[in-house]
Amino acid sequence: MDLNSLKKKAQKEIENAKDLKQLDEAYKKYLGKKGELNKILKTLKDLPIEERKRIGKEANKIKKELKERIKETKKTKKEKFQKEREEKEWIDISAPGKIPATKGHIHPITQIGNKAEEVFRGLGFSLIQGPEMEDEWHNFDALNIPKNHPARDMWDTFYLENGKLLRTHTSPVQIRYMESNNPPLRIIVPGRVFRYEATDASHEFNFYQLEGLMVDKKVTAANFRAIIEEFLDSFFEKDTKIRLRPSYFPFTEPSFEVDMRCINCGGKGCSVCSQTGWLELMGAGMVHPEVLKSVGYKPDKWQGFAFGIGLDRLAMLKYNINDIRLFYSSDLRFLSQF
Ligand code: FA5
Repeated sequence: MDLNSLKKKAQKEIENAKDLKQLDEAYKKYLGKKGELNKILKTLKDLPIEERKRIGKEANKIKKELKERIKETKKTKKEKFQKEREEKEWIDISAPGKIPATKGHIHPITQIGNKAEEVFRGLGFSLIQGPEMEDEWHNFDALNIPKNHPARDMWDTFYLENGKLLRTHTSPVQIRYMESNNPPLRIIVPGRVFRYEATDASHEFNFYQLEGLMVDKKVTAANFRAIIEEFLDSFFEKDTKIRLRPSYFPFTEPSFEVDMRCINCGGKGCSVCSQTGWLELMGAGMVHPEVLKSVGYKPDKWQGFAFGIGLDRLAMLKYNINDIRLFYSSDLRFLSQF
């Protein structure tokens, strides 16, 4: 090909380039090391010197011109190319997806906690939170469970390398609150707790409790009973019946276990209540004088009750679920029912 037609061809290609990539390709094709122009220059060695000089000069001129033209074209068409590309690649991010988005919802245990909170707020209790990583003082000592006391075995504990532990119940938040607030007081504390124990249909190693604490000048076990009856009636939206059974907790005296008449069989006996007609729901009692002393309250002036409800158990009763582990299975077939 002679130089002139090569030049024309290259110019046309530069002119028609649709994007920067094509311009770069044209550069490579005509001006690159193995490009058309160099190919022609290579053949010059066989020509007489005069001819060689002339064509060499001509070729360099064309090279310069083409380079210049590509540079110019790049400059003038850059904006146009960019606009074209943006139009081609534009994505409507507000367009609906091909797979319809599914909406998440609140976990059943959280729903139960919210409902319980709502009822207790109506009874004058305020909601308090506390840390999941605790120290021995708040989780045990201040609750009248000294070191080496056999009662510590009631709570199998996860100890951490930093000397702390994962709280085994929500009761330490009673201590935290009383340490920095004066009575009278009414609080509830929902929260996650941890126990180093094997799981079964009614036990998890990680579950949720709702602690309650009321301290005033004349608080009695009868007040406790009335509050809990009111709570259960509102929560289950039906007439419930409870009984208090004597029990033992180091931080309450006297202590009781609260049973509720089985809402599944109405007390006749069924598989949910192990044929007893009653369901164990919470531990409770009158705050032990030693606990009041440990936070600087005078036991002869103040008294109160405390309780710890298992929120998972409450959820099992409300929804008639026979295995606590389902709540933590992340199985959407189960969870999406609530
Ligand atoms: C306590 O944890 C006491 N802190 C409760 C308390 C508070 C008593 C204030 C007196 C005053 P207990 O270990 O019994 O007590 O647990 C209380 C409730 O938590 C139980 O009634 C049960 O509903 C629930 N619970 C206990 N262990 C588990 C578990 N492994 N899985 C699920 N729920 C549990």
